[in-house]
Amino acid sequence: MGDWIDIAASGECPPGTVLERVVDDRIVALANVDGRWHAIDGLCPHQGGPLGQGSLCGGIVTCPWHGWQFDVASGRHRLSATVRQTVHEVREEEGRVLVRLMPPHGDHAA
Ligand code: FES
Repeated sequence: MGDWIDIAASGECPPGTVLERVVDDRIVALANVDGRWHAIDGLCPHQGGPLGQGSLCGGIVTCPWHGWQFDVASGRHRLSATVRQTVHEVREEEGRVLVRLMPPHGDHAA
């Protein structure tokens, strides 16, 4: 299990937006869904598009390249049960957002 890593000020990612960060050589898409934080792997599994530069509607982020959509809470693709992004732990503390990176595909036991 990794350490908590400070990736942003809370104000950098207002409610209804998503933000891209590179954390320990991994790309993370940080989403603020009405004040609830979520973080998933930000590299789109389709062709590598930047999910953290996509648009957020409700709890769904849309890849800016070809429109694949993912639930930011579960990491699941909206249409395919087999396509899933790794979900990272995230918390807010004193105006900062911290993440703890999970192994690929959320395999917490790894
Ligand atoms: S790269 Fe994300 S939908 Fe194609």
